[in-house]
Amino acid sequence: MADPQELLAVAVTIARSAADLARTLRAQGIGEVSTKSTPTDVVTAADKAVENHVIEVLHQSRPDDAVLGEETGQTGGKVASSAVRWILDPIDGTVNYLYGLPQYAVSLAAEVGGTVVAGVVHNPATGDEWTATRGGGAWRAGRRLTGSGVTDLGQTLVGTGFGYDPARRAHQAAVLAGLLPRIRDIRRIGVASIDLCLAAEGALDAVYEKGLNPWDYAAGGLVASEAGLLVTGLRGEPAGPGFLMAAPPAVHGLLHDELVALDAAGGP
Ligand code: IPD
Repeated sequence: MADPQELLAVAVTIARSAADLARTLRAQGIGEVSTKSTPTDVVTAADKAVENHVIEVLHQSRPDDAVLGEETGQTGGKVASSAVRWILDPIDGTVNYLYGLPQYAVSLAAEVGGTVVAGVVHNPATGDEWTATRGGGAWRAGRRLTGSGVTDLGQTLVGTGFGYDPARRAHQAAVLAGLLPRIRDIRRIGVASIDLCLAAEGALDAVYEKGLNPWDYAAGGLVASEAGLLVTGLRGEPAGPGFLMAAPPAVHGLLHDELVALDAAGGP
């Protein structure tokens, strides 16, 4: 079974139960906190518990599928005989989760033969939930999402984020300093998947970030593109870990050219 709507139904059910677990664990207090790539790249016991929960449920219901999870890497599915791979960020926005800020998300996407066909982003703190299937549109609470329709780069509210490596952050800050005078403003929400969904619903106009991982953007990227945004890399590259930008068609080229001029995909 690899019908996008059926995969989405599985994803939504699992994301909601993962969200319940994340919220329950947060209410019990943050337990063990450790660091990953750098001292600012944190992981909580809840990230691992939620990831394990999702993998366990997926393996029970769909034992032939593969899972790519942020905390465990490529897991299970042996030969992934179904051609389905799930891409999971159990808690996107771990720093917000750690501090008790109500912006974090369970992000779960289903990829078939290497193409993301269904995705859900669920904020356990607010209950906000965004979904999309390839060709089936992007949705939130029964409303189809179509982006902001902004046409003027100077009136464009842009979401972005920063990696955890200090040298990369310094480069990202320099890019931001160059871009800021040319746009309406910047928002750094701290959750790449939610950034993309907010751009899909027009609460942000556009999003860019260098150095994201597939679990940060698989589901949100589909939501944004199904809402009509162009989701790309720079200089004709596809969106990916090297660079991702999502913008309404009328400003995509303008923002792209500014980002190229600022060497946004360069640096460490
Ligand atoms: C992070 C968030 C953040 C983005 C970082 C990501 P994590 O994910 O999405 O907004 O700027 O690049 O790593 O670490 O909280 O899952």
